[in-house]
Amino acid sequence: MKQLASLTGAASLGTLSAVDQAFAAELSGLPDLVTGSLASLRDRYLLDPDVTYFNHGSIGTTPRIVHEARAAYLRTCETNPWLYMWGDAWEEPLEQVRQKAAGLLRCEATELALTHNTTEGFNTLAAGLDLGPGDEVLFSSLNHPGASICWNHYAEIKGFQVRRFDFPVLEMPRLTAADVLDAYDRAIAPRTRVLVFPHIDNIVGLRYPVKELAALARSRGVELIAVDGAQSVGMIDVNLNELGVDAYCASPHKWLQAPKGLGLMYVREDVQRQIRPMWVTWGQERWKGSARMFEDYGTRNLPEVLTLGDAIDFQESLGAPAKERRYRELWELFRAAGESSGTVIWRSPTDWSLSASLYALEIEDIPSQAVFEHMYGLHKFVFRPFRTQGLNTVRISLNITNTEAEIARFFELLKDVPQH
Ligand SMILES: Cc1ncc(COP(=O)(O)O)c(C=O)c1O
Repeated sequence: MKQLASLTGAASLGTLSAVDQAFAAELSGLPDLVTGSLASLRDRYLLDPDVTYFNHGSIGTTPRIVHEARAAYLRTCETNPWLYMWGDAWEEPLEQVRQKAAGLLRCEATELALTHNTTEGFNTLAAGLDLGPGDEVLFSSLNHPGASICWNHYAEIKGFQVRRFDFPVLEMPRLTAADVLDAYDRAIAPRTRVLVFPHIDNIVGLRYPVKELAALARSRGVELIAVDGAQSVGMIDVNLNELGVDAYCASPHKWLQAPKGLGLMYVREDVQRQIRPMWVTWGQERWKGSARMFEDYGTRNLPEVLTLGDAIDFQESLGAPAKERRYRELWELFRAAGESSGTVIWRSPTDWSLSASLYALEIEDIPSQAVFEHMYGLHKFVFRPFRTQGLNTVRISLNITNTEAEIARFFELLKDVPQH
């Protein structure tokens, strides 16, 4: 960390190697998630100690070392903005970030655009695909607005149809993977050209059987399968080589704990030609033939984009399997504590293979907004209330730094939320 502090003013590429050195030291000191102390991992974050953060699904918190790296890039940039923004000093480092992200998601770097967020990725698809009268875009009520509203907007302009079907969300605890596939199988129609669904939805945290659903949609004649990875990238292992989808959009500011306002959009190589870029300036010509043509909107947030590489390093050093083990442990604890409380109804899947570190609980007879106001107002617990599609739930999304003690305290304090 000291190395970083002393070099943050350097107007040279030295900043990059200083960040690398500081990172190497930090990462070699991270605890092993199986045998090490998770408490020491928590110290590597900037979270207010008075806050109990159960809302990693809305927005992540950046590790201190990643934040420091970003500050170093920002400071360096200001020493000679022309050089870093428009000279080619950061051209190679930018491409290294793309390579790193492609390695994480198991795709080609030329298939990955570095966008601002998931919403931008879906806007690019809705704006750029050649859709018109007679074509249908299909998604369910579990789709997030960021992956949905853009389709309605462009449907009005281009004349295609959007159909949103009701997912049986109230039956979620009983659903199997076959039930999920069946719901989509019944909804897909001969005119469905585009299917959109989340890898993990943001309301109840259903982990979709993506590969199986993509294969099913393909067999039913769907041409473009676009997946919303906002809640999956950084939380679970995502292998685009295996999923068989055409496009995949994500928001690294959630589970990758990257700076806010960074996105990833995968577009399979042979699909890129079917999409006209949404932003148009000189880069669309220059980067034709690679997904980079989708990201050039003029002057951009290069210091943040460089920091994405550091965020990926941090997460990869923790290891996806170890993270998943910890998420599952916390999920089991939450379920058990909910069951023994006698007042909590579990509204999410009950099989871990369909679950994620994001789940929904109903507190019997109390509106979820009132639960939130009490728990945040008095005790600074951060989570998200939902009142939608017949649900009255609080959504809990824990990261590996959350603790058993926090979960116990949550259920203890819940007893004092006044009845309504
Ligand atoms: C499943 C899902 N999709 C899309 C989004 C939108 O993300 P962003 O605002 O980063 O585009 C979110 C945000 O919470 C989400 O949970």
